[in-house]
Amino acid sequence: MAITWTEDLSTGIAMIDEQHKELFKRVNDLMSACAKGKGKEEIVKVMEFLKEYVVMHFGAEEKCMQETGFPDYKAHKKQHDGFVEEFKQFKNKMEQSGPSVDLVVKINHFLVDWLINHIKKKDKALGAFLRKKM
Ligand SMILES: [Fe+2]
Repeated sequence: MAITWTEDLSTGIAMIDEQHKELFKRVNDLMSACAKGKGKEEIVKVMEFLKEYVVMHFGAEEKCMQETGFPDYKAHKKQHDGFVEEFKQFKNKMEQSGPSVDLVVKINHFLVDWLINHIKKKDKALGAFLRKKM
């Protein structure tokens, strides 16, 4: 299942929206590597790349929050940290047992559900706050 960026996911902050679109592209790259039956090493590499992109993106959001005194910083960062931790566990599983259908489906659901939910609830609130500050 591909993840698609739609206008209702817009935070109103161009940098954040652009990074979200790129993030969705990386998630889709990972899923197509799995669908094409790429080997474990290749898929772990794509996951590593996705993780690095996520860390960079979360860091950019957190910098905005800190610079503007965003009141929900702690709870928002907690969700970011939780994501990184859970993704790391999926990556470990992938390294151990390879891209089984079961694991790939779980990773896909996790990524899609988490991102859509987080963007709608947390990032849109951040975007509204940042727009008021501008
Ligand atoms: Fe966020």
